[in-house]
Amino acid sequence: MQPQPIIIDCDPGIDDAIALLLAFASPAKLDLLGITTVAGNVPLALTTRNACLMRELASSHSVPVYAGCAAPLVRAPVDAGHFHGASGLGNLPVSQPDQPASPGHAARWIVDTLRQRPSNTVTLVVMGPMTNIAQAIALDADAVQRAQCIVAMGGARCEGGNITASAEFNIFADPHAARRVFQCGCPIVMLGLDATHQVRANPAHVAALRAVGTRAANTVASLLEFTLQLPANDHRDGGVPLHDPCTIAWLLDPAAFTDLPCHIDVETESPLTIGHTAVEFRVSADKPTNARWVVSANGARVFELLVQSLRHLP
Ligand code: RIB
Ligand code: CA
Repeated sequence: MQPQPIIIDCDPGIDDAIALLLAFASPAKLDLLGITTVAGNVPLALTTRNACLMRELASSHSVPVYAGCAAPLVRAPVDAGHFHGASGLGNLPVSQPDQPASPGHAARWIVDTLRQRPSNTVTLVVMGPMTNIAQAIALDADAVQRAQCIVAMGGARCEGGNITASAEFNIFADPHAARRVFQCGCPIVMLGLDATHQVRANPAHVAALRAVGTRAANTVASLLEFTLQLPANDHRDGGVPLHDPCTIAWLLDPAAFTDLPCHIDVETESPLTIGHTAVEFRVSADKPTNARWVVSANGARVFELLVQSLRHLP
């Protein structure tokens, strides 16, 4: 079976970094055509550097990295440095990567790549604010339609928000971009907090990663240890959610998840609820299905996949 061609759009960020390593570790199943970066957890210069550092760690220099949007479409920028550390990679020692990002804007590279590849073959994996994808739609909406699917981490329904009472960070950070993506007509699978809060890493998981003994597994263990020591209120059951790795795990092992068709819209005006995702399962003529919402995730199965995959990296 041929590996699935994917593009990863991300804002590394601790969990984005772990997701990138999981993707790099799965070349038999995933053909990572390139990585695009966006401002989100930390500013664009840092998310781009961090993506290049993960590429270096995985010894995957043939995968290009393209920097994208430095700010959201409309709203004032927000970040999540309090969860990811000032560098975006916790307390990992960071340096300049051995290979820089490629020249050119991420949105342009996304549409060009979708035009060059056969229609309905490339999956867009989105792990940060959706600004680059909205820009790609603005550049060439028909090209984005050529994507087989958009698999994104974002939003919340039953779980409430993680950056405000009613909004999850990726959607909150650029609600106008998210709304545009939900209207684009491309098949979308959303892994919101309802799913990712079922996939949590605790100190025992960190020990299991340390036991793997590879540089990549030790890096993931260090990133999780940084997160575990944060006083965050979503650390239920002593574990931290593996948000972005769930998108890659869904591609690698979809049977570990279940999803339902829904209509998703995004609040873009209310100061109180901006970024809220209205996930409606009662689809209708005026609220047609525009996405599938992941409602369950097998956390133990996802974590085992992560541990076993990281054995294949240096
Ligand atoms: O709410 C979790 C999401 O926001 C993840 O993508 C994390 O990296 C942050 O960007
Ligand atoms: Ca992210």
